[in-house]
Amino acid sequence: MNEITIACIFDLDGVLVDTAVYHYQAWKKLANSLGFDFTHAQNEQLKGVNRMRSLDKILAWGGITKSDAEKDELAALKNTWYVDMISKMSPSEVLPGSLELLQQLKDKGIRIALGSASKNSGLILEKTDLTHFFDAIVDGNAVTSSKPDPEVFVKGAELLHTSEENCIVFEDASAGVEAAIAAGMAVVGVGEAENLPGADLIVKDLAGVTVQQLIDLTEQRNARK
Ligand code: BG6
Ligand code: MG
Repeated sequence: MNEITIACIFDLDGVLVDTAVYHYQAWKKLANSLGFDFTHAQNEQLKGVNRMRSLDKILAWGGITKSDAEKDELAALKNTWYVDMISKMSPSEVLPGSLELLQQLKDKGIRIALGSASKNSGLILEKTDLTHFFDAIVDGNAVTSSKPDPEVFVKGAELLHTSEENCIVFEDASAGVEAAIAAGMAVVGVGEAENLPGADLIVKDLAGVTVQQLIDLTEQRNARK
């Protein structure tokens, strides 16, 4: 039997857990406090986008200009509300199939990294009891450029001591799929195909994803190179 060399890098929000609902509530409260509304459709556009860039987009939608110092305060305020909500998360909020796939990978000795834009990933992983699955964690605290820049995934591969052609990224945001492609990695898009152009495989969630499927995907992709 061939030795398994693949490594997996997971986005967090929208792939392993659904935190978009909490981001929505916190951003909506902030927008409302500034005198305008914030919709679910706008929240969709913030998937994979880091905190400050999200705030810039929201202020632009509301037609509001703020200084850098004011923006820092607003982002901190939103984060206080968001952290209050995620502090109450529990393992029951892990998305379907995530635990099973992470366990299959662990059982087969396949290395696993987190590649998230969030600066709150440590707390979310702790509250949902997922921390122990990860050999490396790269999140918003560890990168200087955010998705679609490939930095988060390149760092993940480095920390797993592997190269990009062995890595498979799991992403629910188009900026994340773009980042993985820029890093030269295979991508499993989690969600709807029309929102995730360029993904090698699209799944609605991680339920039913097998390790063999991931090995085949990587081999086929590398053979095409
Ligand atoms: C991403 C989310 O994972 O993290 C974005 O998809 C969010 O919506 C970003 O803005 C940053 O999160 P945080 O927790 O650092 O504010
Ligand atoms: Mg995501």
